[in-house]
Amino acid sequence: MKSIENIENIENKRVILRLDLNVPIKNGKITDSNRIDKIIPTLNFLVKKKAKIIIVSHIGRPNGRVVKELSLEPVSLFIKEKIKKKVSLLKENIFQLNKKDIFCNSTDEVVLLENIRFYPEEEANDDNFSEKLASLGEIYVNDAFSCSHRDHASVSKITKYIPSYGGIQINTEVNALNKITSEIRKPVTCIIGGSKISSKINIIKNLIPKFNSIIIVGAMANNIFKYKGLRVGSSICEKNIDNIIKEIFSYGEKYNCKIYFPKDIKVGKKLSDKAIEKNFKDVEDDDMILDVGSKTLFEIKKIIDSSSTLLWNGPLGYFENRHFSAGSLEVAKYIANKGDKIFSVVGGGDTVAVINSLELNNKFDFVSTAGGAFLEYLEGKVLPGIKALN
Ligand code: 3PG
Repeated sequence: MKSIENIENIENKRVILRLDLNVPIKNGKITDSNRIDKIIPTLNFLVKKKAKIIIVSHIGRPNGRVVKELSLEPVSLFIKEKIKKKVSLLKENIFQLNKKDIFCNSTDEVVLLENIRFYPEEEANDDNFSEKLASLGEIYVNDAFSCSHRDHASVSKITKYIPSYGGIQINTEVNALNKITSEIRKPVTCIIGGSKISSKINIIKNLIPKFNSIIIVGAMANNIFKYKGLRVGSSICEKNIDNIIKEIFSYGEKYNCKIYFPKDIKVGKKLSDKAIEKNFKDVEDDDMILDVGSKTLFEIKKIIDSSSTLLWNGPLGYFENRHFSAGSLEVAKYIANKGDKIFSVVGGGDTVAVINSLELNNKFDFVSTAGGAFLEYLEGKVLPGIKALN
C-alpha cells in the first residue's frame, strides 16, 4: 500500500482525505472521540507539509438523504479545537462545487465536506460522483480503516480517478491486524455484539472455521433467541435470517467451534428504563432485551478463562443507558484484569467507547477503530478500500 509518508511535493497540493468521523454524538456533543484522536497525527502531518486538506467522511446512516441531525458540524468544531486551525464545513452540493470554490482565501488550510452519505451516489459507488469528488483534489488519502470494508465512492471508486495513498492510521491498523492474525494463539474466542445485525450476521459464519468459541451477544443475539423459540418481546430483530442462523449452528458443529448465546437477560419497556433481570419465559410482549443477565456473565467469564486470545467487537447491551451497561463493563474489566494471561484485541466505535469510559484502553493488546472492517479483515477478506489502494 502506497503511504502518505512517501508522497513528494505535497506543499499546496489539494489532498482529499477520507476519514471515518462516525463518532457518537449526544445533544450536539461528541461522547467518544477515539476515532478522531487517532487521525490527528495524519492531519498534523499534512498541515506541517503545507497541504490543502479536504476532509471527506460519513456519520451515521442517512440513506442518501440530508438528515440535519447527522451533520458533521459538531465534528468540524471538535477538529478545529484539536488542531488549532480554522476548519470550514462546506455544505454546498458536491455536484455544484468546483475546485476554485474551495480555498478561495489563501490562508485556508482545512475544509470538511458535509456528510458524504447525504448523497445516494456514495453508497452506490457511483462513477460520476467519484469522478466529481476526485476533481476537487490532486491526491487522495484513505485513513479510514473502519469503513474500508465499504465499496463506496469515497472509499474505493475515487481511486480510479486520482493518485491514491494510505494514511498513517490505516497503515498502523493493517500492520497490527496482519501480525495478530498470523501469530494468533489458540484457543481463540470471539465476542460479537452490537446492533448492526444485518452487517455482521453473515460474517459470523465465515469466522467459525478460524475460532474455537464465538459468543454472540447484544441485539445480534435476539435473532438467535427467536430462532430457538424463546420470547423476545419487542426487541429489535432482523427479518428472514433463520437460514443464516441455522447455518451458523451447523458450521459450529462441523468446525468444532462452540457457539454461545445469553442464557438470561435484562429487559426494559423503554431504552431509558431501569433494568429488570428476567428469564426468557417471563419476557412480556412490550419488553425489550437490552443487556445480558448474571448467569450469562458468569459463563462468559469462564470462557474467557479458558482462552489464549480474545477478540471483541460490539457491546453486550444498550450501554448508552448505564442501567444496561453492566454486561459490557464487566466483560471489559474482566479481560483487562487478565493482563498477560490473554492476548486481547478490541474493535469498533461502541466497544472502544466502553473501554475508554473505564480508562482501560491501554490494558488491551490492540485497540482497533474498526468494527465491521475489523471482523471482515479477520475473516480474511480483502477490503475494497485497501484493495483500491494497492
Ligand atoms: C463503523 O462505524 O463501523 C463505520 O463508520 C462504518 O459504518 P457503517 O457500518 O454504517 O458502514
